[in-house]
Amino acid sequence: MTARVAVITGGASGIGRATCLKFAKKGDKVVVADFNEAMAEEIVELIKAEGGEAIFVKTDVSKQEDVEALVNITVDVYGRIDIMFNNAGIGAGGMILEQNMEGYFKTIGVNQHGVAFGIMAAGRKMKELGSKGVIINTASVFGYLASHGTFAYQASKGAVRMMTQTAALELGAYGIRVVGIAPGGVDTPIIQGYKDMGIIDKLNASQMRGKLIKPEAIANAVYLLSLDEADVINGSIVMVDDGYAS
Ligand code: NAI
Repeated sequence: MTARVAVITGGASGIGRATCLKFAKKGDKVVVADFNEAMAEEIVELIKAEGGEAIFVKTDVSKQEDVEALVNITVDVYGRIDIMFNNAGIGAGGMILEQNMEGYFKTIGVNQHGVAFGIMAAGRKMKELGSKGVIINTASVFGYLASHGTFAYQASKGAVRMMTQTAALELGAYGIRVVGIAPGGVDTPIIQGYKDMGIIDKLNASQMRGKLIKPEAIANAVYLLSLDEADVINGSIVMVDDGYAS
């Protein structure tokens, strides 16, 4: 069987890192896309040391030319692209009336535009190559539920939901599947930024296990969604939240 090629943005840390390792362990070739060079190179080395195959492509997902280059380099190196995991994200906090506008635009730029650029670049390339690929986008339970102090983040993740549904509708005509995940509270560096706001306590109290989810558990869900066996899961955002939104 030909190995699949998976591009994973935000692959240097947290959910992205765990997903790179999961796909590589399963025999897929992995393209680690991130702007954190040192951490991404470390993942590539780790994958290679375990007998897997991976490359790093330095990418700022908020720049469309970077994302286009990422997809082109992937196909230049591996000849195909089967999975595009648009996962890189940041979370500038702030109450609406005191919103720091730089943080607002940055959050929308990475979380919303970054996913849009990924859908467009991968969608075009998959159509061109006739590959029946899958695009997986990271939304959040915060794309569904309101919370104090996360205005820009909430807006960006709500957008990811609708972009996923709309892209599934349009790209389905070419055999390309588009799905999303909505994680609950996951134990990664991003969430530590919200510690002082009581958000971690709230997440812990509402998740069935009473604690943050391990990134490896989210990676398992992403992997399952990438499989052909999941081919009728299309246009959906799958809650991977240990019951938070229930
Ligand atoms: P993380 O902070 O561990 O990882 C985020 C990665 O994205 C980092 O490697 C960072 O360098 C990279 N990144 C940030 N901006 C980038 C840019 N402009 N271009 C390229 N790479 C960039 O955080 P985590 O938790 O792994 O986040 C992954 C995704 O999961 C994000 O979209 C986040 O919003 C989402 N999420 C996380 C939750 C959590 O509780 N940790 C809950 C729900 C969603």
